[in-house]
Formats: sequence, structure tokens, C-alpha cells
Amino acid sequence: MDARDPLARVRERFYFPKTKDGEDCIYLCGHSLGLQPKTARSYVDQELEEWARLGVEGHFHAKHPWMPYHRLLTEQTAALVGAQPSEVVVMNSLTVNLHLIFVLFYRPTTERHKILIEGGAFPSDQYAVQSQIRFHGFDPAQSLIELTPRDGESCMRDEDIETLIDRQGNSIALILLGGVNYVTGQAFDMPAITKAGHRKGCVVGLDLAHGAGNIPLHLHDCGPDFAAWCSYKYLNGGPGCVAGCFVHERHARAWEIPRFAGWWGHDEKNRFQMEPEFRPMVGAEGWQLSNPSIMALAPLRASMEIFSETGIDRLRAKSISLTGYMEFLLREMDSSRFTIVTPVECTRRGAQLSIRLKHQGRNLCNRLADEGVMGDWREPDTFRVAAVPLYNSYQDVYRFAQRFAVALQ
Ligand SMILES: Cc1ncc(COP(=O)(O)O)c(C=O)c1O
Repeated sequence: MDARDPLARVRERFYFPKTKDGEDCIYLCGHSLGLQPKTARSYVDQELEEWARLGVEGHFHAKHPWMPYHRLLTEQTAALVGAQPSEVVVMNSLTVNLHLIFVLFYRPTTERHKILIEGGAFPSDQYAVQSQIRFHGFDPAQSLIELTPRDGESCMRDEDIETLIDRQGNSIALILLGGVNYVTGQAFDMPAITKAGHRKGCVVGLDLAHGAGNIPLHLHDCGPDFAAWCSYKYLNGGPGCVAGCFVHERHARAWEIPRFAGWWGHDEKNRFQMEPEFRPMVGAEGWQLSNPSIMALAPLRASMEIFSETGIDRLRAKSISLTGYMEFLLREMDSSRFTIVTPVECTRRGAQLSIRLKHQGRNLCNRLADEGVMGDWREPDTFRVAAVPLYNSYQDVYRFAQRFAVALQ
């Protein structure tokens, strides 16, 4: 399969962490932190050199002037998430973006004040929505609805989510779902849930931390009001990299609703007139606050160029095959020791498989790490692994499965 894989050589464009013996690790942790593209350093170096050479003039006279530097990422980001360029911007970090967007999109009233999230959503999302509810004078005990799977099941059924929205939608102000759940790896039926939410007059937003760069997205057509994602997982932008944000075109000129403002969201033609009155830019860029970190954007450019060359559809085809292969190998093992909680259908998952271990899972995870197999552990019992099509091979998956089987024993 590796010999026939048209994307096999893309792997050579990334650095792999090494084992004690100097071998490449079997890196299955791209759902947590993506690998460094080998070109990332030169992109950063270039900006450091421009800064040394030009000082403040770099804003306008660097090879890639810093003033509009974030726009170097706009087309590629839009293509990756299926959006129009004016609907996306790279700025801040994920949780910051969620809060900023909530200012516009979470405007609770006594009749409609609830937020719907998935049970066990990533803690930062839970804290964000709880704090937003409190900030508006409501109580999470009454205003937060958490989706839970049916008894005995690990993943939510899309039809149950829709039923809940149909029943309770009139009191729900905002639905925030992870496009792909961080623990189980379940991908939700985003178009259906978005439609169900909109039918009931709810705002629909997506946390795509585990979706962007993992599964093809069609945000414009799917139609959520907003989405936000980080760039350090499947997007390989580096630790703490600048995040992405989508605001649907229908809100591009939402001037009438108050938003938190900063100068980088101000009409760029007049930004340096230093006018006292804020006039936001049209589209997602109007939500920017500050000038972005160029040094953090530079490595993301290196990665996004690789995405542009490979194309998310080709990556997805390989991803389905790689993850399917991993699942096949795991299912050949002693299944009394673990269960795979990620859905079986490839339409309901991305690259990640979540393996729930019955005993001593943490030890197993540590042992594998000692042997150079890098997945990660989520308390209380889940070992997460993702075969990332940009840089993982079928051989990685095979070698992982062999070591996993031995460690199980
Ligand atoms: C689903 C999800 N949401 C939010 C976050 C928080 O991201 P940040 O620290 O970039 O705000 C993470 C981080 O891993 C995540 O996985």
C-alpha cells in the first residue's frame, strides 16, 4: 500500500521525533500536535531576517509585508474548510475566538437562554460556555444542556441530537458542537444538525479543533453561523499557533449587533488614520482585534502550502484507508481487553481511533511511548491514536499494531 500511495513521499517533508536509538518514532499524535514541516524554519527565519533588515518598515516593505501577512493564509484556509475567503480569518487562539464570537452570537433572553453542547466537550469549551452563561446573568444548571449517548453506548446518535433540538430548540440560543469529538473521534452530521438548529431559530457554531485538516468541510454550504479551530493539530502550525475562525457570509455585515472591537478589525483603508470611531471590515476580518504574531503565522504557511499541493480530498481518501487498516488490525486482536469507541462508519469519524482499555491502559500507553509509539492518553481509560495521511504510512500502522498487541499481552 505504501508503494502504491501517491502521497507516500509527503512524509519526507516533516520532522519525526526520534527514539532513543535514533529511529523515527511511530507518531500517531497528530490529533494533539501535528509534526513540523521541514520548511517551517525557513519561513520563520525569513521574517526574522526581514525584521533585522527593515525594522518597522517590514510592515510595508518585507517580501511578504506584515500588514496583510495573515491574508497569505486566507485562500488556502478557505479552500480547506469549504468557505468563501471573506468568511475566514486566522487570528488569536481557539478559546479566545469562541469567546469573541459568543459576544455576537450568544445573546440570551428569558425565553431563549440555553446553550447545547456535547457531554464531555473539551474542558475549555465547557468553561467558555459556562462562563458566558454566568456573564449574562444565567445559571449553567438551568441554561446548559449536555448531549449524552444512550445507555451503554459511547457515541451520540445524530438522530437523537436532532430530536433533542426539535423538542427543546425554542429555548436554545446557541448550539456549539465539536465537529469531531476529541475523546471518541466521532464526526457529527454537521449539515443535518445545522439545519435542525436553524429550523428552531438557534445559532449554530462548530468547534473544529479536531475537524480542520482532518475531514473535508463545506462550511459555507453546510451553513453554521460560525466555526473556530486551532492550527496546531492536523494543521501542523506549531504549538500555540494562531487559530482559524469562520463567520458565515450572512453575518458579514452584522453592524447593528455589538461586538468587541480592536484596531485590526477596523476598515483597513483607514486603519492608520487612527479614527476614534470603529468601523468594522466586512466579513470575518472584522472580528480581528490585534495585529497577529507573524512568527506564529509563518510556520502555518509552510504547512498550508503542503495542504494546498496535496488537496484535502486526496488526503481524506488515504485517511479512510489508513484508519480502516488500523481498525482491521486492532479487531484481529483479543477484544476482551479493549473496545474501539470511535464509530465504525468512515462518514462518522476522521483519522482518530479511540481505544478504551479495560485494565492498566495508562501503563500500556507509557510502555508504547518508551518504544517510540506516540499516541496519547485521556483519563480515565482512553488511548487515542490518529494515522495522519500527510505523514503516516501503512507501515507505521502495521508496526503500531504489532507493538500494541505485544504490550496488551
Ligand atoms: C476540542 C478543543 N477545543 C478547544 C481546545 C482549546 O484550544 P486553545 O488552547 O487553542 O484555546 C482544544 C485543545 O486541544 C480542543 O481540543
